[in-house]
Order: sequence, then structure tokens, then C-alpha cells
Amino acid sequence: MQYTEKVMDHFQHPRNMGQIENPSGVGEVGNAVCGDIMRIYLTVENNVITDIKFQTYGCGAAVATTSQLTEMVKGKTLEEALKITNADVAKELGGLPPVKLHCSNLAADALKVAIENYQQNLKQEKESVKNAESR
Ligand code: FES
Repeated sequence: MQYTEKVMDHFQHPRNMGQIENPSGVGEVGNAVCGDIMRIYLTVENNVITDIKFQTYGCGAAVATTSQLTEMVKGKTLEEALKITNADVAKELGGLPPVKLHCSNLAADALKVAIENYQQNLKQEKESVKNAESR
């Protein structure tokens, strides 16, 4: 299987791998095709992703695509981050072998779940502030 140099670089030196203590949101997804798992942690300030980290049991292509995605979304607003597709990430990496395209789904899917988790946390926070104020 032929990987581009950029894919190999991200696989061998993944950016933003690890965990965030007290994240604003966390997203975990499994890949139905291979059974691998991806978890993404976010720090969000004023609607902007200021930090992002990931942990995975995925293959090299999953590591490379998630590493690339984390670099692309850091500093972006949530709306901008949600617009980045698997195809954008694969393109940025110079392409992925077709048999490995499903692996890139893990990154975008986990990011989406992490953003939803953040939005839920925010809503709960607002509600508890409101409840505290009305007491
Ligand atoms: S084979 Fe499972 S993520 Fe690539």
C-alpha cells in the first residue's frame, strides 16, 4: 500500500496526541468497518477550538488523518471546524489509498461528537446558572 510522505510523517510524528485534563467536550466513536476506536478532547473558548488532542486504537491512516485534522481545526470556530470534511483532510495529506478512506471517518466523526458534547455541557451549565439565579 502506498502512503504519501505527509501521511507517513503524521503517522510517525503525530501532532496533538494525548489527553486534555478537564476538556470542554469529549467525543468517542468506533469504526464499523474495522472496529477501531477514536477519542477526541476539546478545549473551547469563546466558540473557538483553542486546544485539541486525540487518543486512538486506529491504524496508521487513522492516526495520520486525525493528526492532520487537529492541525486544521485548532484556532477555528466550531462552525468552521464542522465544515472540514474527510475529503479535505485526505486532500491535505496528498491523498489516501482507497481501501483506507474509511479510516479518515474516525477523525471527523469523533470531532463532531466532541463538539456536540461541548454544546450539551454548555447548555447544562447555562441551565444550572439560571436555576441558581432563580432560587
Ligand atoms: S483500519 Fe481501523 S481505522 Fe484504519
